[in-house]
Amino acid sequence: MTGNNHIQLDSNGRLKHFLTTEGLSRQLLVEILDNAESFAGVAHRAVKKVPLLRGKTIVNLFFEPSTRTSTTFDLAANRLSADVVNVNLATSSTSKGESLLDTLHTLEAMHTDMFVVRHSSSGAAHFIAGHVAPHVSVINAGDGQHAHPTQAMLDMFTIRRHKRSFETLTVAIVGDIMHSRVARSDIHALKTLGVNDVRVVGPKTLMPADIESLGVRVFDNLDNALQQVDVIIMLRLQKERMLSASIPSESEYFRRYGLTQTRLRLAKPDAIVMHPGPINRGIEIESSVADSNQSVILQQVSHGIAIRMAVMAMTLGSLSGSLAKNDENPDN
Ligand code: NCD
Repeated sequence: MTGNNHIQLDSNGRLKHFLTTEGLSRQLLVEILDNAESFAGVAHRAVKKVPLLRGKTIVNLFFEPSTRTSTTFDLAANRLSADVVNVNLATSSTSKGESLLDTLHTLEAMHTDMFVVRHSSSGAAHFIAGHVAPHVSVINAGDGQHAHPTQAMLDMFTIRRHKRSFETLTVAIVGDIMHSRVARSDIHALKTLGVNDVRVVGPKTLMPADIESLGVRVFDNLDNALQQVDVIIMLRLQKERMLSASIPSESEYFRRYGLTQTRLRLAKPDAIVMHPGPINRGIEIESSVADSNQSVILQQVSHGIAIRMAVMAMTLGSLSGSLAKNDENPDN
């Protein structure tokens, strides 16, 4: 096994931790999407629960603020019938100087089966995965500028729902590529799933120098990049990770890189508009575009629950058979 997979996969090639989309096989990514497709139906039941993770304890460890990601992980775990603990790290011992490993081992002593980790340092989730007990799984909910694999998979799920096949697609990822863990994880997933034409668009000051090595085409003119695209993924300006000198002003940024109704017409007529959220209206995206019927931004949020259910059940080894077999819900 190469790259990250020696830590992500167990000796049978099954997902043990979910830390990055980089290096995972197409087959595994498709398995995640297919499992999520089965879980998406649970949301429409009167009782939105399956008993797959009954008796398991999941700790959501969020060292960085988050609304949609932490809420959808929480809901996903609840819908799988796990016991979930959301640790409020703003008021926890980490602010009293306790080390990350001491915090981790304290929580592990509470018989935790899974940690969902968000951290501002790139590599934090890998570090934690390298230090937990053998039965514990770790899911990366976003580490620094590095990776956000469940966001990437919910993006892939949303694309597949609208476009069916990946091979023929042209996808543009627009904005602050430099600071975006979403862009990196999306690029790895899109390339593995067979998308040939992935375009990254943004000011040179927000474009990593080595990005072409990931198999993408680099643009700094949004109008050129949008020609005939099927999918537009807008990114948030990561102001908290950026030196103020990286863009001249927000209004200038919007003038050059904001997605407006006029610009959207350069893409294919059935192009979809995505954004991981939170959106900055009038900075990355015109309000009317965010609310238009080409926008799938709120669908992305709902799909996040199904993807997180799939990844949690897979990493805890609860999906070896078919979903139906494991699902004792008579409602099924
Ligand atoms: C992303 C994140 O936190 O990396 N958002 C999210 O998970 N909903 C993108 C962002 O914050 O810009």
